[in-house]
Amino acid sequence: MKTVRLLDGTIVPAIGQGTWTTGEDPRLRAEEIATLREGIDRGASLIDTAEMYGEGASEDLVGEAIAGRRDEVFLVSKVYPWNASRAGTIAACERSLKRLRTDRIDLYLLHWRGEHPLAETVAAFEALKKAGKIRRWGVSNFDHGDMDELMDGKVGGACATDQVLYNLSRRGIEWDLLPWARSINLPIMAYSPLEQARLLFDRELKTIAEGRGVTAAQLALAWVVDRGGVIAIPKASSRRRLAENLGALDVEITPEVRAALDLAFPPPHRATPLEML
Ligand SMILES: NC(=O)c1ccc[n+]([C@@H]2O[C@H](COP(=O)([O-])OP(=O)(O)OC[C@H]3O[C@@H](n4cnc5c(N)ncnc54)[C@H](OP(=O)(O)O)[C@@H]3O)[C@@H](O)[C@H]2O)c1
Repeated sequence: MKTVRLLDGTIVPAIGQGTWTTGEDPRLRAEEIATLREGIDRGASLIDTAEMYGEGASEDLVGEAIAGRRDEVFLVSKVYPWNASRAGTIAACERSLKRLRTDRIDLYLLHWRGEHPLAETVAAFEALKKAGKIRRWGVSNFDHGDMDELMDGKVGGACATDQVLYNLSRRGIEWDLLPWARSINLPIMAYSPLEQARLLFDRELKTIAEGRGVTAAQLALAWVVDRGGVIAIPKASSRRRLAENLGALDVEITPEVRAALDLAFPPPHRATPLEML
């Protein structure tokens, strides 16, 4: 498995597993659990969830999937911005731990920026860390300016990541956020790396992928993780799709493939506000 090094030296897989909408349809439950477990077996042991996903249903399913295997998993969850006061963050984390049936979350993120002062949320994160309930914390959907504010206020020094929308059709972060993160070795987590499957219907992507004997999903994911420092968290609800997606790890992004993808999905030519899904 290709890996990414966190600032504290911890090594995590470059391709993990997303879980937005996982756990919402009881008919899919058994296969979703089997998929997460097989993902752990195959090294995609970073699992991303949030209190938001199915209002706890995703965390609950993840808890069931990782039962008995907690030490093999790097668990990521997120607090809603409106819960992110000092006391609210701690209470939300306790609820997540209960649903996840664990005593710790490896990486706890502020899902997006809200009304609560960042310093309050960070103080709660640090208190949770001290209590051993989270191992590290980070943010999500923070644009370059938000990150500057987090770091300048001297409260953000321990921030482990910024989880943002990044895929071939959403390359805005390459203008400023990504180079900045790379300059301080801060890993970025790329959410919706398949653009919620919409990319898979793109004719140009399909043509480039077919020319290399790989699928559009594999090429899209291989591109996201190719340059290092980026963790992709595609969501798949079946073992078949999981296997296909992990095939991305064997796909080489040659200079020719990169150039073809740049033509089809041009890099940004100016700063644009961070997009969110
Ligand atoms: N921090 C944030 O604000 C934020 C926002 C969005 C997402 N996220 C996280 O990032 C994860 C990934 O993003 P996402 O779920 O929005 O989108 P995504 O991973 O880009 O795409 C997921 C969609 O693609 C389908 N899919 C996956 N592999 C496929 C394949 N090989 N062939 C065909 N279809 C395939 C899935 O279908 P099936 O499920 O039916 O297999 C699902 O509909 C989320 O699950 C969540 O954990 C975070």
